[in-house]
Amino acid sequence: METFGRGPRRGQRPAPNENQRKKDSVARSQLNPSANLQTQRNTESVDGWQTFAGHRAQVMSLLLKLAGDASDPVPRRICLLGAGNCNDIDLPQLIHHFAEVHLVDLDRDALIAGTRTQGVAESEQIKLHVGMDLSGIVEQLGQWHTTPPRPGDYPAVVANARSATIPIAGPFYVVASLCTISQLIDAVLIASGQPTQESITLALAVRDRHLELMEQLTQPGGHLVLITDVTSSATVPDLNVIPVEQLPVKLIEMINTRNFFTGLNPFALLARYRQDPEWESRAESAELSAPWIWNLGPRQYIVCALTVRKPVH
Ligand SMILES: C[S@@+](CC[C@H](N)C(=O)[O-])C[C@H]1O[C@@H](n2cnc3c(N)ncnc32)[C@H](O)[C@@H]1O
Repeated sequence: METFGRGPRRGQRPAPNENQRKKDSVARSQLNPSANLQTQRNTESVDGWQTFAGHRAQVMSLLLKLAGDASDPVPRRICLLGAGNCNDIDLPQLIHHFAEVHLVDLDRDALIAGTRTQGVAESEQIKLHVGMDLSGIVEQLGQWHTTPPRPGDYPAVVANARSATIPIAGPFYVVASLCTISQLIDAVLIASGQPTQESITLALAVRDRHLELMEQLTQPGGHLVLITDVTSSATVPDLNVIPVEQLPVKLIEMINTRNFFTGLNPFALLARYRQDPEWESRAESAELSAPWIWNLGPRQYIVCALTVRKPVH
């Protein structure tokens, strides 16, 4: 794993072991079909700045509501999980409103290119955390592409997913996940082949750990913002022509007909933070945004955001 921003500054020569680590990480990801799939998807959407405009406006509106101002006693830091090409965030605006902007992704090249494209690669406020595996199991999933898993292989991988961690020094006032949880779950389902009870259990373990990681990175009284795609035009062909005011009703229809990505019913996630005895104490408040459409070019997604305020104590 690599962490930019906390290591040598750009332009400085990294220590030899740091150099080796970078080579190892890149080599690993080139051999790993699960990581490759993410890189390939990022390559396909690298020029998405224009098509992402509406989606980016929604994401930025949510994030800027949580930004601080000059009167804040402690400058606010934000951490963005799955920042990838950074097409869904406006980095100059973020560095204007947050003291530090931490960008996390498995895909090193996407993060570096994204910050260069937006002209902020040299900013001291931008901290890149590249080669970070948010699922904790990308290596194992990669192996399953060549050697399909047997039921007995799952418990150890579920345990690894449940203990996934990333070496980033929090806490942050805002931790946002940028349509990444669906990718983490999709990676499990693709590597597993046919959906089975075991693969669903693993997918849900990855989902729950992602939420826990977000909580751990968030400071008391801060906010975690889970932005997630819920379903796509692959199963709702008219998604792009539904008037925006009808989207909330359409979303409910999709949920009622079980037309949503595995584990990503936003109402069920909200209900957990509001009603589930185990999760309720982890949230001071929990709100679901109105849905919006993310146009990815060839495909559209219906997206919404769950914002959870972490208790102060
Ligand atoms: C749908 S993209 C998010 C869009 C992105 N913010 C953009 O504007 O291009 C999901 C991101 O999650 C990243 N990702 C997928 N699996 C990951 C993992 N296991 N660990 C870390 N990042 C991962 C991908 O590399 C990708 O950049």
